[in-house]
Amino acid sequence: MKIQSIRGVKDILPEDIWKWQYIESVAHNIFSRFGFKEIRLPIFEDTRLFLRSIGEATDIVEKEMYTFNDRSGDSITLRPEGTASVVRAYIEHKMYNPPSTLKMFYVGPMFRYERPQAGRLRQFNQIGVEVMGSSSPIVDAEVMTMVIEFFKELGLTEVSLEINSLGSQECRPQYREILKAEIEKFLDQLCSNCTARYQRNPLRVLDCKVEQCSKIADKLPKLIDHLDKASADHFSEVRSLLDSAGIPYSVNTNLVRGLDYYNHTAFEITSVYLGAQNAICGGGRYDTLVEDLDGPSTPCFGFALGLERLVSLVPFHEKKHPKTTPDIFIVCLGKETKMLGFQIAHELRLKGFWVERDYETASMKSQMRKANKSQSRFTLILGENEIRSGNLKLKNMDTGEQKECLVQNLATEIT
Ligand code: HAM
Repeated sequence: MKIQSIRGVKDILPEDIWKWQYIESVAHNIFSRFGFKEIRLPIFEDTRLFLRSIGEATDIVEKEMYTFNDRSGDSITLRPEGTASVVRAYIEHKMYNPPSTLKMFYVGPMFRYERPQAGRLRQFNQIGVEVMGSSSPIVDAEVMTMVIEFFKELGLTEVSLEINSLGSQECRPQYREILKAEIEKFLDQLCSNCTARYQRNPLRVLDCKVEQCSKIADKLPKLIDHLDKASADHFSEVRSLLDSAGIPYSVNTNLVRGLDYYNHTAFEITSVYLGAQNAICGGGRYDTLVEDLDGPSTPCFGFALGLERLVSLVPFHEKKHPKTTPDIFIVCLGKETKMLGFQIAHELRLKGFWVERDYETASMKSQMRKANKSQSRFTLILGENEIRSGNLKLKNMDTGEQKECLVQNLATEIT
């Protein structure tokens, strides 16, 4: 039986990789202007890291993690997201010393056992960004502005930014009780997931995608009406900053995010062109996570975006396509030419040229066919006569012009 890739897991093929590299290079460029440096993190961690950060009553922890015991019997999980790992590394490497605002980004695969569909994979790639060590609303606004600028640079303008405030540890517990009491009035109408979970995680009822739940969600009390003064001030400052930068957004009072670590600002960026899985990007403030994982009190803000979804949206133009054809194709005729062909190819590559050749001993016709197919700018023909005379045949594939050329002049001729 032929072995195939696992359901919900995709290869990124050589003909498509330039799109990914292009997006990543734009991210590197823009993020570095905002002072971000890359961090590379392991793709598996101690399972407890995710239980304690993402939250035990979330979809990710309840049913989506790839968890297994390794050969020592330790419970390991393939990372479902990157924030927990950044926080673990931040604490482990004492990055809080000396105190400063640290800005990091990461790129790589995440793993969630979700039901695969268009835009939803079991292994998917994210670019994520985390700012550690500042509670300023300027950080919230600056990071959201950065994502919008990043999308604009990629030619993506038709996106919607939705924001909400999830309040603080001070006002949320009280609101949760109010919300629970209200939810209880509609219990017989909620989906089984919401009914099972509302006691532990009542906020998730607000953004349940099941139609009857979202109708009820609209009738439930909103956290935004129960914010304490500090949370309300923070949110209003974020809004003023976004307004001053001319960034359009809407407030979605049902936006709660699927991970438990958020407080204050939460945001999502969606595209109508994505279908059911319409979120390109999501994030927010998480001021207590570092402390929850036994680090020092460190307010943070971050987001992650789904690269598969982004790749499907970006209007790629040919001009962004890097050079994809060789400079020269070497056609070798006869056994004696093998060595010279090998040497010429090596020397030209050392000088920076992209050189292709046929590795088989094939006829002139078949090798010329390959040279044409490769769309190389030049073709070099090496036959036994050419070796003897030292004059090689060089064909300009654009003009069809063919001339004789000495080995030592080759690099100049094709520059
Ligand atoms: P998230 O909303 O779970 O947040 O994921 C961020 C983005 O990853 C989503 O908006 C979506 O584009 C993409 N994504 C999520 N699941 C899948 C999937 N199964 N298939 C394809 N794409 C997917 C986080 O992961 C947080 N760590 C973001 C964050 C960083 N918050 C603070 N800092």
